[in-house]
Amino acid sequence: MLTFAAATAGFSAAPVRANPVFRENPFTLGVASGDPLPGGVVLWTRLAPEPLAVDGSGGMAQRAVPVEWQIARDPRFRQVERAGTVRATPELAHAVHAEVGGLEPGREYWYRFRAGRELSPVGRTRTAPAADATPEQVRFGFASCQNYADGYFTAFRHLAEDDVDLVVHLGDYIYEGGNVGSIGRAHLPAAECFSLTDYRVRYSQYKSDPDLQASHAAAPWVVVLDDHEIDNNWADDLDGGDVGGAEFAARRVAALKAYYENTPLRRTSMPSGPDMQLYRRLRYGTLADFNVVDTRQYRDNQACGDGRRIDCEDRLDPARTMLGAAQESWLLDGLSDAPATWKVMANQIFMMQADHEAGPVQAFGMDTWDGYAAARTRLLDGVRERGVDNFVVITGDAHRSVAADLKANFDDPASATVGTEFLATSISSGGDGADQDALGGVWLAENPHMKFHNVQRGYATCTLTADSWRTDYRVVPYVRRPDAPVSTRASVYVEAGVPGVAQVSS
Ligand SMILES: [Fe+2]
Repeated sequence: MLTFAAATAGFSAAPVRANPVFRENPFTLGVASGDPLPGGVVLWTRLAPEPLAVDGSGGMAQRAVPVEWQIARDPRFRQVERAGTVRATPELAHAVHAEVGGLEPGREYWYRFRAGRELSPVGRTRTAPAADATPEQVRFGFASCQNYADGYFTAFRHLAEDDVDLVVHLGDYIYEGGNVGSIGRAHLPAAECFSLTDYRVRYSQYKSDPDLQASHAAAPWVVVLDDHEIDNNWADDLDGGDVGGAEFAARRVAALKAYYENTPLRRTSMPSGPDMQLYRRLRYGTLADFNVVDTRQYRDNQACGDGRRIDCEDRLDPARTMLGAAQESWLLDGLSDAPATWKVMANQIFMMQADHEAGPVQAFGMDTWDGYAAARTRLLDGVRERGVDNFVVITGDAHRSVAADLKANFDDPASATVGTEFLATSISSGGDGADQDALGGVWLAENPHMKFHNVQRGYATCTLTADSWRTDYRVVPYVRRPDAPVSTRASVYVEAGVPGVAQVSS
């Protein structure tokens, strides 16, 4: 056991002004890091000695508290590289977002926080490679959809042990509903979230999960939201029931604020009222660009009343947008200018066409890119016309795993393949899952561009080199009980220079 003085070596010796005294350790929500640059990273924590306090305060008084941070070259903090102090304020639920610079590119670091005499757990992070560096490989994991009431977050525990450089989270970090489930993980608060207090308590509950904390502490995360951080299937200024106005605007303000408070985002993503800058680009040397897109804030409302539709003409209307004009040109320009080998698009709802109906009739989901088919064609045509090679889309939302070719014309298997999409399943949403299900059978039969399907829970890890891309679908056999083992259900390969799935080994 280290003495306090030894354990906190390197923190400033002088007591910080207004140094608080805590009855309980306030670091109950763990630590995180995010949005790595070649020379820097965001360090996150939030003070919450009583995380589930019903007023959303986390048990903190209504005053600002100084929080010290340290980042070191070794896990025992013998070589502290940078340190500083941040004011954690009640306005931001005592969240800390320390943006650290001056670090070495492509290097592992360890970080921790101190408030009063209390120390946080230690997190590990990694800076991005230098812009002109060509790392031998980049390994990242991606995940989405963690309904707390549906299952344990065991998959996150395994992701923490997979030694990835980066985790990309594609949305549904929380679920806003009041579902109770049947495994003793009922949502708090008990009802659907609407107010800032509701969302703050919900995040505190999710972030108290030790498996989620382990995954955050093991690698930097890049996060983007989907629908359940606010309301199922919301679109721009309309909620999932197509109701907008002041009530939904206020809900959006509250939900985005709570999302920011609980994620390792940069200040550039701090919400301004109901708006939040989430689309952004991260570079991993000359090997990979991550184009993080936002498919919720700028989209047109779902066509034909949402749901699954046959013969919905509106989905083919070129005036309808998924990304909004500004983001769409930012994306296409960034893809065509990219010096990187792999152009990754971190996306929420799947881009591949998915006919849900056996036989010649086609039925499509209106919330996915199928409901915005003309916008999808415009994007994929843009990718093709600009000669963008090695275009790979990673996606969440659907609670099933699919590897697919992205086609110039999905109804013509002979048409050009423009890129590859890896859809990865949920962490826990949907419960235990299965190897295959009826819908998966229909999908594989009706959609020849789909090359692999599975409906177990888990996540994906991707290993990129200059020559090839490998996605490992990591699955757990159950989530309704803790401690499931993990295995690789399939590895799916793409060859650089050849768009589409090259090989599936399972
Ligand atoms: Fe989901």
